[in-house]
Amino acid sequence: MGLAVWQAEAEQNGVTFPEINTLTHYTTVERGVTVEHMLTTPEALAAIKAGTPVPTGTHVVLQDFQSGDLYRYLIAQKLGDGAADWGYQWFWPDGTIKADERTAQCYACHRSREANQFMFTHSGAVGYGE
Ligand code: HEC
Repeated sequence: MGLAVWQAEAEQNGVTFPEINTLTHYTTVERGVTVEHMLTTPEALAAIKAGTPVPTGTHVVLQDFQSGDLYRYLIAQKLGDGAADWGYQWFWPDGTIKADERTAQCYACHRSREANQFMFTHSGAVGYGE
């Protein structure tokens, strides 16, 4: 399956599936059998360090591994220039969307991090590479 197919399916709410191998793995969160790799673009990491808004279009990815197997991708994307213009989507490893996911809940919880570009792992991004 090509990336174009993934993106066509993802247009349901504007969030697209990124080219994972172009992203930087900036931090890891571990909880029991769960291991989460957080990834974003080098440009976004530079902006976060500088305290400026990430570029519109930026993807932030949570790669969720359960007992060593890739379970899903949770993806945040900066959809517009406004500080609150974030979109969310749950993708399965084959690139399809979890169709019944209520992404408004993703947004509502992440909005509590509005002062930190909607990111819970903001400090991990600030500290990456230091
Ligand atoms: C109840 C709160 C809550 C909800 C709902 C939620 N998240 Fe998160 N999200 C978190 C927390 C907390 C983290 C930090 C990692 C961790 O603790 O596992 C996180 C991390 C992330 C990250 C990595 C960047 C960051 O913010 O640190 C992405 C991407 C993400 N979530 C996407 C989603 C998507 C997509 C959904 C909906 C399908 C979702 N989240 C729903 C709380 C939430």
